[in-house]
Amino acid sequence: MAFKHLASFVLFACTISAVRGAVMKRATCADGRTTANAACCVLFPILDDIQENLFDGGECGEEVHESLRLTFHDAIGISPTKGGGGADGSIVIFDEIETAFHANGGIDDIVDVQKPFIAKHGITAGDFIQFAGAVGVSNCAGAPRLNFFLGRPNATKASPDLLVPEPFDSITNILARFKEVGFSPAEVVALLGSHTIAAADHVDETIPGTPFDSTPGVFDTQLFIEVQLRGTLFPGTGGNQGEVQSPLRGEIRLQSDHDLARDSRTACEWQSFANNQAKLQSAFKAAMLKLSILGHKQSDLIDCSDVIPVPKPVIGKPHLPAGSKQSDIEQACASAPFPSLTADAGPTTSVPPVPPS
Ligand code: HEM
Repeated sequence: MAFKHLASFVLFACTISAVRGAVMKRATCADGRTTANAACCVLFPILDDIQENLFDGGECGEEVHESLRLTFHDAIGISPTKGGGGADGSIVIFDEIETAFHANGGIDDIVDVQKPFIAKHGITAGDFIQFAGAVGVSNCAGAPRLNFFLGRPNATKASPDLLVPEPFDSITNILARFKEVGFSPAEVVALLGSHTIAAADHVDETIPGTPFDSTPGVFDTQLFIEVQLRGTLFPGTGGNQGEVQSPLRGEIRLQSDHDLARDSRTACEWQSFANNQAKLQSAFKAAMLKLSILGHKQSDLIDCSDVIPVPKPVIGKPHLPAGSKQSDIEQACASAPFPSLTADAGPTTSVPPVPPS
């Protein structure tokens, strides 16, 4: 009798999933590629164009880094008290206002590069910025496949100033800024995973393209390891606002990253990513989805995530850079030791700049 009930339940469940399967039938686009929703077909020609002509044939290089930074600087421009529309493309549409904000230093480069693509393809600036960010990140080995939702209306006004965090802000202020728009301290740390594929042009203007970790072309956990090493040198002139000493020649360290790795509110979360690629991928992906739709309701947008290419697996294993020792780690998490790592063999690591394209 119990078996009979089970059998009819299984039959019922199969029928439901068959019905769901029918509803979920994929749309075939003009070029033969398929996607869950026909409205997403417009993205395939944009994908091909930006991979070829914005990201130099699918590289994880300077334009990818800059495009990812742009997703953040557009999206974070929203506050319950000061206004702003979040991920609405205002940084491109009102670029004369927003690129002049101090925290947006250098962002005019990628705004100028993306503008003709936006004009050519006729999607909104807010959609294009987040789409280019998600596609760009997919070129970096080790990255998660980010979500992309389509349908952001165009911004009607510029974001107010002082909503983008600065590297010289206190952790209290940084966490408060993110909390205002719904991010927990753990999500803030996850978002900083972005700095594993990142470099600075303007923190020390004498050394443009100086990366934050030794592997700026790979989405790995090295940032979380290297920022925890004792700082010993400035890669360029030193004394710049928002910069603290780094452990490696050719590597630059932001004061905000340094402090997030050492503050009692965030240190254990920071450390937890040091040798956990899977956790970094899933936490970054979830936090990036939230960031990419700031100012919108997810239910108003169309899920086009299946248009985003699947990234290649990570290259290499979490390690200490050559010449570093476990004792160079500045333990900051009070409840668990920093994971034990092996140093690369060979001469002391020094990091080359990210080349301009
Ligand atoms: C506390 C929060 C943050 C601060 C203070 C901060 C600060 C900075 C600074 C000062 C730079 C160097 C800019 C330059 O000199 O060229 C930079 C670069 C970058 N940031 Fe952040 N950032 C933060 C969070 C984020 C988030 C949430 C993302 C993305 C989700 C992000 C993505 C990037 C990327 C990809 C770059 C490299 C750009 C390039 O290589 O051209 N940052 N960040």
